[in-house]
Amino acid sequence: MNFQMTFKRLIVLVLMVSVAPHMYASRKVAVIGTGYVGLVLGACLADFGNDVLCADIDTDKIKRLNNGEIPIYEPGLKEVVDRTCKQGTLSFSDDPEAVIRQSEVVFIAVGTPMSDDGKADMRYVDGVAKMIGKNLNGYKIICTKSTVPIGTGKRLRKLIKESAVGAVDFDVASNPEFLKEGSAVKDFLVPDRVVFGTDTDRPLEALYDIYRPLHAAGVPFLCTDIATAETIKYAANAFLAVKISFINEVAQLCDRTGADVKSVAKGMGLDNRIGTKFLNPGPGFGGSCFPKDTCAFVHKAKQSFMDLKIVEAALAVNDNQKRFILKKIHELMNGCIEKKKVAVLGLAFKANTDDVRYSPSLNVIEYLLEQGATVAAYDPVAMENMKKAAPQAMYCESMIEAITDADAVVVMTEWDEFCSLDLTRIKSLMKQPILFDARNIVKTAQLKELGFAFANIGNAKVE
Ligand code: UGA
Repeated sequence: MNFQMTFKRLIVLVLMVSVAPHMYASRKVAVIGTGYVGLVLGACLADFGNDVLCADIDTDKIKRLNNGEIPIYEPGLKEVVDRTCKQGTLSFSDDPEAVIRQSEVVFIAVGTPMSDDGKADMRYVDGVAKMIGKNLNGYKIICTKSTVPIGTGKRLRKLIKESAVGAVDFDVASNPEFLKEGSAVKDFLVPDRVVFGTDTDRPLEALYDIYRPLHAAGVPFLCTDIATAETIKYAANAFLAVKISFINEVAQLCDRTGADVKSVAKGMGLDNRIGTKFLNPGPGFGGSCFPKDTCAFVHKAKQSFMDLKIVEAALAVNDNQKRFILKKIHELMNGCIEKKKVAVLGLAFKANTDDVRYSPSLNVIEYLLEQGATVAAYDPVAMENMKKAAPQAMYCESMIEAITDADAVVVMTEWDEFCSLDLTRIKSLMKQPILFDARNIVKTAQLKELGFAFANIGNAKVE
């Protein structure tokens, strides 16, 4: 989608959202699970004029939400939650059963974490499905929003039927979410597409109603069967993961040949068939989606007696990239890590989020600690979460505190404040000027000029 089109859709959408509560038949919607996906979904659907009840069994979280506090860092989300709560279209409850009984469409947005064997852990989704079965008190549409293995829709239908008492009337649907953490609200409001997977036509009218402003704004809607919708979600995430691993592998080659990966990515991406997005080399993909979804996709294929060779390779390259970063830090510090102070800037798995799940920063912190270094960690928003994952590191109130007297600086997340580092000041504060840039955001000419020993990914020339 080009910029002009996105902008046009945004304008139409703003107009539609402002009139939505008055123009459309509002649907009674339940969202079970108030994580990154559920909370954004609930708030944005309420902004479209639907009557949305968000439920979570975490009573503390619900208490905080009812007090106007947003438990996650997600730009723009507080404004939408405040607005919709005030206009009365959004509310929160710690009683999912009551919420299910009051709703016509129930979105399942609970977690599907990775199990030890790499499969998606379905216990939370299944638990919600059973709860829905027990609370069916009229026709309902049960729609999966969580990323669920192909075949889940079919399985849930059976589970719900088995848990229900007496005659039941319901449909199951899949409506995969494609938003990215850090730009979730914008991604939800201006999506590239909306996908509905249903096995009958009956749920479509309500689903279209719920998303009416997006449809009216010209966003493409794709209706498929449930298994196809479930596959679209996994295939899209896997493809993006492949793209990242591809450029990370090319970056490793550039490191050996002296070519500049940044220009290589640009030169490739300008070919419209390839596209410039998701070609930024880095410390390997992390977060709550790509690592888990690619593994689950591979597992699902194995159940159908096939290997998704390209996706498996992307996972192997990603593991290798994480080791490659450690090797580069080791080399840059000439193997002298013990008793050194290393400042790790950026703990979130990417910028604009406080999420540290599968964050490459965690690997780096653990490695440095293992080698006997003192780790001075700093992140604008993810410190509290990383403290739980790596309590042995030292957490600093500011970037300057982390850098002061450091023997080396490692930039792990592409936060804006790390893109414009005052390198002269940083050099003056450090014990010795050593910097590793895992995101290719620190200006290389300036590093050279100031006499830093430095390295980045794929010999990138950063201007
Ligand atoms: C990803 C997808 O982009 C969303 O479309 C999808 O809805 C979501 O997963 C999900 O399944 O819920 P997310 O994990 O929030 O979104 O973040 P991304 O921006 O996709 O980044 C994922 C990882 O790839 C991060 O570690 C990021 O640093 C890395 N990445 C991304 C790169 O290393 N290079 C790039 O060019 C892009």
